[in-house]
Amino acid sequence: MPDLLTDLRAALGDEHVLTAEANTAAYAVDWRGAYRGTPLAVLRPGSTDEVAAAVRLANDAGVAIVPQGGNTGMCGGAVPTDDGSQLVLSLGRMRRVREVDAEGGTITVEAGVVLAEVQEAAAEAGRLFPVSLGSEGSCTVGGTIATNAGGTAVLRYGMMRSQVLGLEVVLPDGRVWDGLRSLRKDNTGYDLTQLFIGAEGTLGVVTAAVLTLQPATPARATAWVALPSVAAAATLLPLLRDHAADRLTTWELVSRPALELVLAAGVTNPLDSTAEWFGLVELAGPAGADVDADLERALGDAVEKDLVLDAAIAGSPAQRAGLWALRERVSEAQESLGPTVKHDVSVPISSLDDLVARLGPALEEALPGIRPIVYGHVGDGNLHYNLSRPPSLEPEDFLVHAVELSRIVHDTTAALDGSISAEHGLGSGKAAAAAAYKSDVEVDLMRAVKAALDPAGLMNPGKVLPLQ
Ligand code: FAD
Ligand code: MLT
Ligand code: ZN
Repeated sequence: MPDLLTDLRAALGDEHVLTAEANTAAYAVDWRGAYRGTPLAVLRPGSTDEVAAAVRLANDAGVAIVPQGGNTGMCGGAVPTDDGSQLVLSLGRMRRVREVDAEGGTITVEAGVVLAEVQEAAAEAGRLFPVSLGSEGSCTVGGTIATNAGGTAVLRYGMMRSQVLGLEVVLPDGRVWDGLRSLRKDNTGYDLTQLFIGAEGTLGVVTAAVLTLQPATPARATAWVALPSVAAAATLLPLLRDHAADRLTTWELVSRPALELVLAAGVTNPLDSTAEWFGLVELAGPAGADVDADLERALGDAVEKDLVLDAAIAGSPAQRAGLWALRERVSEAQESLGPTVKHDVSVPISSLDDLVARLGPALEEALPGIRPIVYGHVGDGNLHYNLSRPPSLEPEDFLVHAVELSRIVHDTTAALDGSISAEHGLGSGKAAAAAAYKSDVEVDLMRAVKAALDPAGLMNPGKVLPLQ
C-alpha cells in the first residue's frame, strides 16, 4: 500500500505513521499476550481533523481500521488481524481535557485521556467522576466508552453508558459527527450517542466526549468481610441498601482461591478466617456524612443474621487502600498461573449461587484439577469466572480445552437467563459466542445497524459481530 502510506504520512506527519516492527510491536498485542496481530501501520493522529483525514484515506483505499486506546481490553477488540492488512489507529496523542464545568456538572475530554486523569480533573474541580476500574491508570475515555466499561461503582452510578451526555465521532467514511452536547434531556429522535457506546469501534472512532460529573464523596467507609456462601453475598445486597440506600457504592466478591493469589503477591488479609468467600463493601457520601455509622449498623445486622462471619473496617486511607488491593489485584495476580480462560458473565443476582454451584462440578468433570478463580461485581450479578490450568498441564495442553470450558460456562449462564459478557465486550474473542446465544432477530438488527453506518465493513471488522 505505498500510496496510502504516503498519503497518511502527508496527513499526519512521518513520525506518526509507524511501520517498523520495533515501533508497532506494543500496539500489535494485548496486555495479556492473548491476542496478537500484525498491523499494516500504526497511526497516531493528534486531532479530530487528523483522525478524519486518516479514516477517509483508509476508506478510499478499502483498508480496515482498528481503533486503539490504552490496549487494556479483555477480548482482543483493539488488536488487528495477523495478515498485515489493517491499520491500528491509536488515540494516544489526543489527551486534552477540553473543559471542566463544575457548576453544570460536566467534563469534556478527548478520547485518549486516561480514566485516572478524568477522575483527577473532576476532583480538582470538587467533583467526582465515578467510573473506577483496576486498569484506570492506563485505559482511556475512548476505550471505556467503546466497551461500555463497568468496574466497582456500577451499582451506585451505572456503567460508562450512564456517564456520557455527548460524543464526537469520526464515521467510517471520514465524516465527523459533532454530538458534543451537554443536555440532560434531548428527545429529538434516535439516540445516536448511545449507539456508539459499547460498539467497540465497529461503528466509528470516538474522538471526544462530554461526561457527567457527580457531587464529591469525601466521606468513605470500607470493610472486608468473610462470608458463609455466595447466597449470603446476594442476600446482603438488599440488606446493605436498606441501611445505606444510595450511599452503597461497592459490593464485590472474592473467592478463596482468588484471595490466595493476591496474598501470594504480597497483599495482607486483615481477617484470620477459613471462609471460602470474601466481600469488599464501600459506602460513600458528602463531607460530614456518617458513613462509618451506617456501615457498622449494616454489618452488625448482617452478623446477627449469619450473613457475615467476620469483618475488618478500614481505619485509615492506608488501610482502605490495603482492602481495595485484596480485590483489585486479582486480575493481574492470576497471570502468575499462566494463561487464563476468562469469563465475564452476569445472571440475575438471585441465580448467582446456582451458577457457582453448577459450574464447579461441571468444570471439574470436564478437566479434573482445573482452578476456577472466581471474583467480581456481585452487586451487579457479574462474576469473573476465570479458569487457570491444572498444575499438571502445560499451558498449550490446557488451552486446547478452552472452547469446551467456555461452552460449559456460557451454556450454564444462558440457562440461567444470563449474559456471556457483562462488562468486557466481545472483541474478536467472544463475537461468535455472543451471536450464538442471541436470537436471529437480534443478530439481524445488529447487522443492519453495522451495515447502515459502515457499509464497506472497514471499521474494526470481525469485532462484536463475527464476519459472515
Ligand atoms: P482498548 O483496549 O484500547 O480498546 C477496547 C475496545 O475499544 C476495542 O474494540 C477498540 O477498538 C475500541 N476503542 C478504543 N478506543 C476507541 C475509540 N476512541 N473509538 C472507538 N473505539 C475505540 N473492564 C471493565 O469493564 N470493568 C473492570 O472492572 C475492568 N477491570 C480491569 C482490570 C484490569 C487490571 C485490566 C487490565 C482491565 C480491566 N478491564 C475492566 C478491561 C478494560 O480496562 C476496559 O475494557 C477498558 O474499557 C478498555 O479501555 P482501553 O482504552 O484500554 O481500550
Ligand atoms: C476485574 O473486575 O478485576 C476485571 O474486570 C476482571 C478480569 O480481569 O477478568
Ligand atoms: Zn470486572
